[in-house]
Amino acid sequence: MNFPKKRMRRLRKNKNLRNLVQKIRLNKNDVLYPIFVKEGIEEKKEIRSMKNQYHYPINGLDSIVSLCEDNDLQGVLLFGVPSNKDQKGSSAFDDNGIVQRAVRRIKEISNLAVFTDICLCQYTSHGHCGILDQNGVNNDKTLEILNKIAVSHAEAGADFVAPSGMMDGQVKSIRGALDEKGYQNTGIMAYSAKFSSNFYGPFRDAAECSPGGEKTNLSNRDTYQMDFKTEASQQPMEEIRLDLEQGADITMVKPALPYLDVIKEAKDRFNAPVAAYNVSGEYAMLKSAINEGLLSEKVIEESLISIKRAGADIIITYFAKELIKDGRI
Ligand code: PBG
Repeated sequence: MNFPKKRMRRLRKNKNLRNLVQKIRLNKNDVLYPIFVKEGIEEKKEIRSMKNQYHYPINGLDSIVSLCEDNDLQGVLLFGVPSNKDQKGSSAFDDNGIVQRAVRRIKEISNLAVFTDICLCQYTSHGHCGILDQNGVNNDKTLEILNKIAVSHAEAGADFVAPSGMMDGQVKSIRGALDEKGYQNTGIMAYSAKFSSNFYGPFRDAAECSPGGEKTNLSNRDTYQMDFKTEASQQPMEEIRLDLEQGADITMVKPALPYLDVIKEAKDRFNAPVAAYNVSGEYAMLKSAINEGLLSEKVIEESLISIKRAGADIIITYFAKELIKDGRI
């Protein structure tokens, strides 16, 4: 019999050999954990659409913050769920708003890097990521509000602000506002290549930010987020290029798993850290299949490794908690 000279199985013969040749490993330095802080609750409460994820009141944050810090995670990404919403999202730039207070508390009790989401959708009565006028979401009017939110988060002590609204020019505008107020050292992680995705459903439930509501016939975010039929090399790369040019320190692709080609292309083309957001729908799919016994928990590691293999430097994932709890990273 004519055996092949090259036998790939030699590399897989035992665990030690496999360990020696496996090069992509998840690491505690790779992940950023998203946390929801909510006004008007007394105790942490599980989010219906995202099992094992919680809404936290300010006075209920300490335990999750220590869990992250004691397990050597590097940082968290904060989302606020306010009690009051209006047409222009005023509660988003309130100095005593939910995110501003959460940042102060986390900074008081830990050394975690604090990133804050900068967007209007949780704070507007219509659930859109910007101010509405008769033509839809008004880009340039929205920028003024994003500036105020970013400055108030920086004032509270955020290390990085993360604009996610997909308004044109938002990075330049926020960079200018931060610099003007003396926050040159506050960084920007731009949600640059953000798709109008169907994988955000559980998050919208958690953050109470589904678009629609009163006085709007816009029931989705298609006029500002990218179409998922867009080619990787076109709009996503241009969005990233523009954001980096405008001063973004970290760029982001979102969602992650359905867009691994976009992550890879971004990593190959640009000399900047690339973050990938493993979003709520990606979490919920695996979580429910695991809970139903259809899939092994190992799918968590396998899917996060695929995001790393594609080139992500930072993975934003709700699974961070599972990973550290079970000592898997
Ligand atoms: C707000 C925002 C969204 C997510 C992060 N920031 C929702 C949206 O754009 O509708 C989604 C995150 C997730 O699904 O985990 N603009």
